[in-house]
Amino acid sequence: MKHRSILTLAAVALALISCTQGQKSPATPSFDEVLQSRRSVRSYDASKTISEAEIREVVAAAQEAPSWINYEPTKFYVAITPGKIEEVKGAVGRNRERLEGVSALIVTTFENSKSGFVDGNQVDPIGDMWGAHDCGLATSYFILKARSMGFDTLIMGGRNAEELRTIFSIPENETVMAVVALGYRKDEPKRPERREIDEILKFF
Ligand SMILES: Cc1cc2nc3c(=O)[nH]c(=O)nc-3n(C[C@H](O)[C@H](O)[C@H](O)COP(=O)(O)O)c2cc1C
Repeated sequence: MKHRSILTLAAVALALISCTQGQKSPATPSFDEVLQSRRSVRSYDASKTISEAEIREVVAAAQEAPSWINYEPTKFYVAITPGKIEEVKGAVGRNRERLEGVSALIVTTFENSKSGFVDGNQVDPIGDMWGAHDCGLATSYFILKARSMGFDTLIMGGRNAEELRTIFSIPENETVMAVVALGYRKDEPKRPERREIDEILKFF
C-alpha cells in the first residue's frame, strides 16, 4: 500500500514536470545560435508585426555597444507607420523590392565631430570615420539583439541619404548611414560563403 502511494506521488510529480515543460516559452537562443541564424533577410512575413516597445528593447541593447569616450554618436530614426514606411521605401532604390512585409525601417545616423574628437577638436587623422565605426558597432548590436528576439534584419547601404534627411528632418550635423529593415523572415535565407579565415587573419 505504502509502495503504491509512493508510485502515485512519483507519477503525479512527473506529470507536473512534463506539463510545466510543455508550457515553457521558447528558450532564449545561445549567442552562437544568434550568430549562425542571423542572415540578411530580403522577404518578410506581413502577417506578423513588431511593436514600438520591442524596438525600444532592441535599441536599448544597441546602446550597450562601446563608443569613443562613451559619446554614443549613433541615432535611430524609426519608420513604423505604414505611411512613413512607404516614404522610406521610396528612398532605397531597388532595395524596395526586398522590403515587402517589413514591420519597421530604421535609419541610422551618427553625430559628426564626436567620435574621433575631444572637446570638439579632431585628435585622430581619420576623424569622423570613428563615428561611422561606432555607428556600425551599435548596428551590429542592434541586428544581433533583434535576432535573439526572433526578428530579422537587412542593412541597406543602397539608399538616398538626402531624401532620408528630408523624410525624418535629420539635422545637418548628423551623417546618414544605413537603412535597417526589421521584420520576420518569410523564407529561410541562404548563408553566403565567407572568405577563407587565413585570408583575413594574421598572427605575429
Ligand atoms: C554596410 C552594409 C550595406 C549593405 N547594403 C545592402 C543593400 O543595399 N542591399 C542588400 O540587399 N544588402 C545589403 N547588405 C547586406 C549584405 O549583402 C550581406 O550582409 C552580405 O551579403 C552577407 O550576408 P548575410 O548578412 O546574410 O551574412 C549590406 C550590408 C552591410 C553591412
